[in-house]
Amino acid sequence: MKQRKITLAFLLIANVFGAFAQKWYTPDIDQKVEALLKQMTVEEKLGYIGGVNWMYTQNIDRLGIHRMKMSDGPQGLGTNGKSTAYPATVMLAATWNENLAYQYGQSLGRDCRARGVNIILGPAVNIYRAPMCGRNFEYMGEDPYLTSRTAVGYIKGVQDQGVMATIKHFIANNSDYDRDHISNDIDERTLNEIYFPSFKAAVQEAEVGAVMTSYNLLNGIYTTENPWLLKEVLRKQWGFNGVVMSDWGSTHYCVPAAKGGLDLEMAGGEKMNPKDMAYYLKTGDVTIDMVDEKVRHILRVLIAFGFKDGVGEDKSIPLDNPASVETALNVAREGLVLLKNEKNILPINPRKYKHIIVTGKNAHGYIKGGGSGGVIPFHYTSLFEGIKKEGELNGVKVEYVDELDFLPGIMYTDNSLSQTGFRTEYFNNINFEGNPVVTQTEKKINYSWAGGTELPGMNRENYSVRWSGVMCSKETADFDFSMGGDDGYRVFINDQAVIDDWTPGAFRSSNITKTLEAGVKYRIRIEYYQKGGAAGVNFIWKNKNENKDEFSAYLNKADLIIACFGHNSDTEGEGSDRTFELPEKDKKMLASIFSSKKPTIGIVNAGGNIEMQEWEPSLKGLIWGFYGGQEAGTAVGDVLFGKVNPSGKLPMTFEKRWEDNPAYNSYHDPDGDKHVAYTEGIFIGYRGYDKLKREVQYPFGYGLSYTTYKLSNVAVSKPNADGAVEVTCKLTNTGNKAGAQVIQVYVGKTESSVVERPEKELRKFEKVFLKAGESKAVKMVIPQNAFTYFDVNTKKFVKDAGNYNVMLGFSSRDIKAQQSILIN
Ligand code: BGC
Repeated sequence: MKQRKITLAFLLIANVFGAFAQKWYTPDIDQKVEALLKQMTVEEKLGYIGGVNWMYTQNIDRLGIHRMKMSDGPQGLGTNGKSTAYPATVMLAATWNENLAYQYGQSLGRDCRARGVNIILGPAVNIYRAPMCGRNFEYMGEDPYLTSRTAVGYIKGVQDQGVMATIKHFIANNSDYDRDHISNDIDERTLNEIYFPSFKAAVQEAEVGAVMTSYNLLNGIYTTENPWLLKEVLRKQWGFNGVVMSDWGSTHYCVPAAKGGLDLEMAGGEKMNPKDMAYYLKTGDVTIDMVDEKVRHILRVLIAFGFKDGVGEDKSIPLDNPASVETALNVAREGLVLLKNEKNILPINPRKYKHIIVTGKNAHGYIKGGGSGGVIPFHYTSLFEGIKKEGELNGVKVEYVDELDFLPGIMYTDNSLSQTGFRTEYFNNINFEGNPVVTQTEKKINYSWAGGTELPGMNRENYSVRWSGVMCSKETADFDFSMGGDDGYRVFINDQAVIDDWTPGAFRSSNITKTLEAGVKYRIRIEYYQKGGAAGVNFIWKNKNENKDEFSAYLNKADLIIACFGHNSDTEGEGSDRTFELPEKDKKMLASIFSSKKPTIGIVNAGGNIEMQEWEPSLKGLIWGFYGGQEAGTAVGDVLFGKVNPSGKLPMTFEKRWEDNPAYNSYHDPDGDKHVAYTEGIFIGYRGYDKLKREVQYPFGYGLSYTTYKLSNVAVSKPNADGAVEVTCKLTNTGNKAGAQVIQVYVGKTESSVVERPEKELRKFEKVFLKAGESKAVKMVIPQNAFTYFDVNTKKFVKDAGNYNVMLGFSSRDIKAQQSILIN
């Protein structure tokens, strides 16, 4: 009898959700869910569909329902104190290594278990359209296939540890400016071919337990309240059985969210709150069946993932786990992308370059992008420390120099001109009210305060700082003053505001020129406040007539310069977009470096491309460091000195100019109507650059190695009975160093179709590790669906018969071999 019931239940599941059901959703689960649901009062149900205490679901002790504990991801556990800080997930994608993505997820899963965390809020898989998106570093690049493989590895790794992963942000959170109000208008084919695949793979291949909606609207409807997206696509078409949670505060209206398919409002029941829901139950705008459905989905994962009775902290796993640290290091090593290596300047020859100067704002500290994905590591190795350690092992002198130490010495704490520096006062409010909490003398103003000032007694957020003193130059000269900050900043000379940007917001900077008369004392006051989120401030002055650049002169002592620049949480992060231009401060630093004429290697941190026409040609070597997590310094040191052979590949195209990007006309909202139509359709990233026949700075899939590879014996089979095609080839390491190359397989239709198809699309890749001189035979299967497109009439991927090019290469613009096959 029992057996029969289970079979019936299974049939019911199969019937309701079509052929697909996620593996953890076994037939007995709903019996347990229904039993609990029957015992819940309406009040309990209404309470249960909203989170509590920022990162928990509700507990109902009477029914033995334990709360579920969440933690932010995706790049480490950001919520429960210190944790291993992994490289940003864009860097994980740059490894092109699904096994490593699995290890990354596995390590995260163990970090969760050590802290009794049930649900991790990651991975994030929105597609990269433009370099400015503030959260690109949390995503996985421009290609749906690479993103899918990376996300599937990550999720399986997490969930094999018994922890539930959350795929986010569903959907179209491809920019972060005005994210609460922008409607991203995307046609159905484009959604299905570009923006959906990684979410669908997460559901169907990786069996993800939770989906988080986004802040924005899709085609005019908030994704959190979008029944087509959440009910029709996610549940009905894809067979998702888990829980749909909102992003923190992305629920905008009660009834639309309740009807639209949202199960769990996070961070708490604010819009779908018990009081309003009870009212709408009475008016009939919502029904108890709708509520039951939500509760069912939450209870289902609670039971299926074994969280109902609570899961304690697994004390056998160290909080600062050496295995996690190793994963973080492996990903940092494999994810670094070597973009330029003029005359093989890298790896550094210690006999030739005996004295290295490291400089730049990102040389020190733990460098990361800003926002909710932030992690506080137990320990980290800065870029400078990593380079110095490896340099010294190679007998090289490595020294750090800060350009701000070379500012003209005209700033004094008071009228006596006896002490250089600023009198500095820190206040625990944003208006300089009351007594300062800390008063001290500071020599320069150059701060990144992502984690607060770390001064004793100071708030981490909501504070203000005043620097004051007297400026006195020996000669009459024009001085350039440059001030930057996140949030408000202003500069007064003799109590008159000369720079004034007293508004909250992302990092920006202002410049003025002012003549200082010889011997005259000018009262200088610099004010800054931090109101929340990212924080940073800097103030620089320069004598315009002074051609001698002390910084540049000092650099001349070295044989080689390593400049660490780009973005960090001051300028790139959640909640806003950043500039495509390199921050002004870096441009100035590079100008000084280049005037020293010393060979220079750039290590750049950023979630994606930065405008580089002015400075890239002057670099001898360029390594894209993304955000390398706590082990970034070790990885960079290892690659610079050749201990590790770089094998990372760009997960996005680097355009020459922003105007070249296929989304150039469709990324912003110039008419202010809050609608952004993705008019380029499926032709985003390399698909678009190919179509537009645009030269690019560095193509998708590009990355250099210290060795060379040869691809040979390429053969492409005819499609088998399932329509799959087998690709075989041989890869040889023709150089004298062990290394890894990624064989990228692109497919493109050569004849016209009913719909326009891209010249090439990534359909498979394999990272092959080879010793010097070694060869390996590689076999890859391209499934039948690699040759399909999404048909909006039948709402299905359909076969598209004709001739296709199967292309094998080392980047999207470096195709080594291609063969034509006929798909019938
Ligand atoms: C972010 C999510 C994050 C959540 C919780 C939101 O601001 O968009 O990605 O998981 O906060 O911190």
